[in-house]
Formats: sequence, C-alpha cells, structure tokens
Amino acid sequence: MKNVRAIAAQIITNLTRQRGSLSTQLTDFSNHPEISLLQEICFGTCRWYLSLEFLLHKLVAKPIKEKDQDVKSLILIGLYQLKELNIADHAVVNETVAASTALNKPWAKPLINAVLRKYQRNQRKLTEELERSTLDIRYSCPTWLLNEVNVAWKSKSQSILKGSNQRPPLTLRVNISKKSPEEIISLFSEHRIEADRGKLAKTAIYLEKPLPVEKIPGFYDGWVSIQDESSQLVPELLNLKPKVRVLDACSAPGGKTCAIIESERLLTEVVALDESESRLQKTRENLLRCGLKASLIRGDATKPTKWWDGRLFDRILLDAPCSGSGVIRRHPDIKILRREEDIQALTKIQAMMLDSLWQCLRPDGLLLYTTCSILPRENDSQIKNFLKRTDNAKYEGITADWGVECDYGRQLLTGDKEDHDGFFYSLLSKS
Ligand SMILES: C[S@@+](CC[C@H](N)C(=O)[O-])C[C@H]1O[C@@H](n2cnc3c(N)ncnc32)[C@H](O)[C@@H]1O
Repeated sequence: MKNVRAIAAQIITNLTRQRGSLSTQLTDFSNHPEISLLQEICFGTCRWYLSLEFLLHKLVAKPIKEKDQDVKSLILIGLYQLKELNIADHAVVNETVAASTALNKPWAKPLINAVLRKYQRNQRKLTEELERSTLDIRYSCPTWLLNEVNVAWKSKSQSILKGSNQRPPLTLRVNISKKSPEEIISLFSEHRIEADRGKLAKTAIYLEKPLPVEKIPGFYDGWVSIQDESSQLVPELLNLKPKVRVLDACSAPGGKTCAIIESERLLTEVVALDESESRLQKTRENLLRCGLKASLIRGDATKPTKWWDGRLFDRILLDAPCSGSGVIRRHPDIKILRREEDIQALTKIQAMMLDSLWQCLRPDGLLLYTTCSILPRENDSQIKNFLKRTDNAKYEGITADWGVECDYGRQLLTGDKEDHDGFFYSLLSKS
C-alpha cells in the first residue's frame, strides 16, 4: 500500500486494536516518499484522538461499525487535517475520500465525503462545542488518566495535560568524553543550525528546529545522541566514580547506558541487561555509534539467578517499565494503547524488580530507581512500599533546584517551563 492516508488509517486502526506501537509501525515506512506527512498525520491523530472522536459523533447519525474501524480512522485523520494542518481543505477532502479505495472500501466514499464537508460547514459551532466539553475530551486524555493526574498534581494538572499535547523539542545529549556542548553549538552554527544549552543537565542541548538524524552534524561520529534532558540527569544522580561497576537493569535501547559510560570513562564495567533481544540490538548499535563498550546480557530483571554471576554491583540503575505517562507528548499513542488495568500489572513488576535487584547491590552501594511516569502509584508510593518491606534500604534524597520534591523522590512534570519530559527519580542506599 502506497497511499499515505490509507497507511495512516491502517496504523491508527492497529493501535485501536492494541496491535504494535506508533513508532514500531512507522519504522516500516521510513523510506516512504511522504514519511513526514505520514508522521504528522499519525502523531496528530493519536494526540487528539478523543477530541476527534467527539467531533465524529456529532457528525454521524449512527456509530461506525467496529469492522469498519479503518473507515472511522480515515475520517478521524481527515478531521485532524482539516482542523490542524495547513493543507487546502479541498485537497484534504479529495485525498482522504480517495484513500478509501486503497483500503478496499470504496463504498465508504460518500460517507467520508459527507462527514468531512459537514465538518467544514459547521466548523465554528463544533469547535465551540468541543471547547465546552469535559476536560478529558478537550485534552483528549483517557478519563482514568485525567482523574489520576488531577488527584496527584491538583493545580498543576492542567499545565501537565497541556504540556502532554505539545510537540516535543529535539533534545540532544553531547558525548562529553568527545566534545564539549560549546564545541557542538559552534559546530552547529557553522551549519546554520541554531541550538541552546539545557538548563538542568550539563550535557543537554536543544535544537531550535527538529532535524532528521542524518542532517545532525556529528551524530554518526557519536558526538551527539537524541535524548530528552530528563534522562540526561541520570549519570550525575548515580554519583559515578572511577572503578565503579554498574548494572543498568532495564537498559534497552541503551540511551542511559551510553550516557553513563560517556560521563565516566574509568568505570570498571557497565552491564546492560534487558529481556528483549530486539531492543538489545538497538543498544548494540547505539554503543557502536558512540564508540563505547558495555557487557550486554539478555535476561529477566526479576530473576537474577538466571543471569547473575553473584558479583555485587556498586551502582544499579533501574529504569523500570512503566505507563509512559510522562512521555505522552513524544508517544501520543500511549493515550490509545494504555489501559487503567495495565498500571496495576506494571506496579507489580516494578516491585518485583526492586526486590530482586536489591540482592545484586553491594552494601554502601546505590540504586537509582527511575520511570518516565508521573503517576505516584509507580513512583513515590512504589518506593514508600519498598522501604517499608526492606530493612537495609534507605532513601537518600535528591538535593536539586529542579522538579517537585516528593516524600521518596524527585519528579519532573511535563508542561514545566523547561521543556523536558515527565520523569521520576529516587536514590536508595543499602546498609
Ligand atoms: C523504560 S525502558 C528502558 C529505557 C532505557 N533505560 C534507555 O534509557 O534507553 C524499559 C525496558 O525494560 C525492559 N524490560 C521489561 N521487562 C523486563 C524484565 N522483566 N527484565 C529486563 N528488562 C525488562 C524493556 O524491554 C525495556 O527495554
């Protein structure tokens, strides 16, 4: 299939059926001549899915059948283009209607045409109705998630929800073992690329305008990598020193593994563990590009007996699998894929990982627990419960001038004036 709108409709349909993620599906089309448009349509439709669905309900007499979800997806991407993109309305309508042939649903042409034209005629009134609707619809955020954010972050919740719907900046991590951020900024300015330093992490720089990696000078030399500023704080918090042995327990695709090695070149060893072989392959590629070495192990962090040789680690990073509620602006498909019941399963795995990895840490060692979540269940409460059941664990506190200080960690929130993702950090020591 070549038709960009039909592909987008298929991708959105797969997401609504819980098949694949947006980024994995888009990788299959990385050489498509209209990849930018495809990305724009898919990201935007995911970001505004619930708002667009609200508009659709106002425009059709009866709901579209589940077996025709692809037709529904096509109409939603049509509405997204009319509402948000700078493409002439007639082109949007014609192209979106035509895409139904590529989906093998030519019968849907009159329906798609009628809905999109009705939207055009009633746009102002429908926009007002959307603005008057409930917050979950307005922010296009699942109700359970909105409620949880409201309870946890009260007066900050609207700025979090707004921030989660923004397009994220392109943030780079400078490999400070090879170049300084100043050197990279001046290299970029020679190429007429504007960049600014981050405010929280000393390695972070923000590009004024996003660029594909092949156009980023020094990317293939391993001088810079793409990484949000929040993750770049990890090496500093781990208090790394020469001769220290580190376990990165949920490491793939290796963003933080590379950041750790770049920040301290005299570590004895970094062991990068992950249960997914395909994701570990990405870690291998990232290490190679950055010219770094780590010991890669495929294994389950909840079952150290299967992969651990019994040598204690001085530092452990547990960047746990989580809801991803802090990175929705980068992965808006989370709002379609994630279900409330997933959170309970995730908190169970996180607790199992904390318990089992704790035995791999040497006395006086440090474990840094992180998530890209903004939900206290996965963060502050998770650590509180761990401390309750673990006698030799102590919360170390994180003294910093960024984020929100919680009882058992520090939280960065989306929508803060600095342009980072939502992220949680808790530092624990063992006696
Ligand atoms: C948040 S991501 C890690 C991102 C990574 N730290 C980085 O900075 O690039 C969580 C990772 O946990 C891995 N994972 C999930 N369950 C696991 C388990 N039981 N044991 C080991 N790894 C697991 C996933 O494959 C995924 O790569």
